[in-house]
Amino acid sequence: MTTVLIAKDSGAKSVGADAVTAAFEAAGVDVIRTGSRGLYWLEPMAEIDGVVYGPLQAEDVAGVLNGEGAKCVGPLADIPEFAKQTRIVFKRVGAIDPTDVAAYRAHGGEGGLHAAQTMGPEWVLKAVAESGLRGRGGAGFPTGIKWRTVAEAPAQQKYIVCNADEGDSGTFADRMLMEGDPFLLLEGMMIAGYAVGASKGFIYLRSEYPDAADTLATAIANAPFLDRDSADGFRFTVELRMGAGAYICGEETALLESLEGKRGLARAKPPLPAHTGAFGQPTVVNNVLTLAAVPDILAKGYGIFHSYGRKQSRGTMPFQLAGNIKHSGLFEVPFGLTLRQLIEDFGGGTRSGRPVRAVQVGGPLGAYFPESLLDTRMEYEAFARAGGMLGHGGVVVFDDTVDLAAQARFAFAFCAHESCGKCTPCRIGAQRGVETVDKITSGENVDANFTVLNDLLEVMRDGSLCALGGLTPTPVASALRWFKEDFDKGASQ
Ligand SMILES: Cc1cc2nc3c(=O)[nH]c(=O)nc-3n(C[C@H](O)[C@H](O)[C@H](O)COP(=O)(O)O)c2cc1C
Ligand code: SF4
Repeated sequence: MTTVLIAKDSGAKSVGADAVTAAFEAAGVDVIRTGSRGLYWLEPMAEIDGVVYGPLQAEDVAGVLNGEGAKCVGPLADIPEFAKQTRIVFKRVGAIDPTDVAAYRAHGGEGGLHAAQTMGPEWVLKAVAESGLRGRGGAGFPTGIKWRTVAEAPAQQKYIVCNADEGDSGTFADRMLMEGDPFLLLEGMMIAGYAVGASKGFIYLRSEYPDAADTLATAIANAPFLDRDSADGFRFTVELRMGAGAYICGEETALLESLEGKRGLARAKPPLPAHTGAFGQPTVVNNVLTLAAVPDILAKGYGIFHSYGRKQSRGTMPFQLAGNIKHSGLFEVPFGLTLRQLIEDFGGGTRSGRPVRAVQVGGPLGAYFPESLLDTRMEYEAFARAGGMLGHGGVVVFDDTVDLAAQARFAFAFCAHESCGKCTPCRIGAQRGVETVDKITSGENVDANFTVLNDLLEVMRDGSLCALGGLTPTPVASALRWFKEDFDKGASQ
C-alpha cells in the first residue's frame, strides 16, 4: 500500500480525522496530512491510491487495510460532486501536504510568480484586468482596476492587505484555502505587491481560525520566495495579524483600523483604501480567494480564466453549501450554473428530506430566495437583478419548517450585535428593527408597525455609513417580499 492522504483541515478534525490518522499510523501506514477535498459529508476521509474511504472512524481502519469494501466510496475522480467541479484555486487542496514546499512546486506552485517577474508589473496589471477577475470578498469589485489605482498612487510605501476575516454565515472557503494551500495565497500576495510596488503584506485573520493561523505561520516562515531579494531586486514580506472577532472588522476600512491597533470602526469613504489605506498609505485590500486566483491566471494565461463563467462573472467560484443540506461542502465551479443545480446536483437536496423553502446566499446580509428564484444563475448581475448578492459564495439552505419572520428578526439582532456604533441608522435602527418585528409577530398595531418597519429599512439602506447597516435591510425586505405570511401569523392570532 502507498501513502494514505487524510485531511488535517479543521472541519475534518472536528469529526475525528486525528483519531483516524492515529489508527492508520498505529498499523504502520504512512499518512500525509492534507487540506480537505471539500466533500465534508465523507469526512473523516482517507484517500489511498486515488480511492476514497469514508466517513471513517478509528475502528473502521482495520477493515480498510484488510480490503473490506464497506467504507469504500470509490475512485475520487468518479465521485460526481468532485468530478463535476473545475478546480483551479483549490486544485492542490487535499492533494498535498500544505506546508511542503517541494510538493507545492511539483504541483505547479510559483508558476504565476515566475511569469510575473519575467513579464514585469505592467503585464501583470493588464493580465489581471483582462482576466475579468472580480473581488471574491463580497462586493465583486474588478481587481484589475483596484490594483491599477494603487500602482498609480505615488507613495514610498504601499501595502497589500489580505482580508481573511471570513465572517459570513455558511462560508469557509478562505479557511480551507489557508489550511490547505497557504503558499498559493502568499504567492498571490507577492504578485500583487510586485504589480503595484508594495513591499509589505499583512494577512488579517479572524481569531476563530487557530489552525489556519498555525499553517500560515509555518508557510510564511518557509515560503522560498518571501523575505529575499529576487533577481530584479524586489523583496516582499508578509506579517500575520489576528483580529479579535468582530464581523465589522471584515469591512475593509474597519479592518484597516483594527490592523493599525485601533477599535474596528468603519471609516467614511472617500478616501478609498487604494489611496489612503493601511497607516495612511495606498493599499490593496483583497479577499483570500481573489489573491489565490491570481497565480493561475498568470501561469496559464488570463484567456483561460476568462473562458470560464459568463458575461461579467468570469472564472470559477468555490461555492460553499451549508445549512439544511445533505452534502455540505465546497464545490469550485465556473460562474453560471443555477442555484438549483448547486443545491440539487451538488448538495443532494435538504438533509431533512423536506422541500427547500428558502435559501440565503451571500452571508447574513444576503437575500432569502424562495423556491421560485432557484433558477437564478450564480452570477453577480443575475443575483443583483433578483434582489440578492453572491457575496463570498456562501449558500445556506432552509427547509419548509423555517420561520422567515424569525430570520428577519435575526438579521436585525445580528446587526445590533455587530454594529460598530459609528452611525445612528445602524446603531439605533437595528435595535428598533428587532423590537418592531417582535411587535408585528405578536399582533401589536400590525399595520402601523409594518409602516415603521418599511421606513426603518429605507433609513438604514440610504443613511448608513457602511454596508453593514446599509445591507441589513436586504434579508429583511426579501423575507417580507417572499414570505409575508410568516409575519402575518402573529397578526391573525
Ligand atoms: C460588514 C462587512 C463584512 C465584510 N466581511 C468581509 C470578510 O470577512 N472578508 C472579505 O474578504 N471581505 C469582507 N467584506 C468586504 C470588504 O469590505 C472588501 O470589499 C473586500 O475585502 C475587498 O476584497 P475583494 O475585492 O478581493 O473582494 C465585508 C464587507 C462588509 C460591509
Ligand atoms: S453602518 Fe453600522 S457598522 Fe457601518 S459605520 Fe454605521 S454603525 Fe458602524
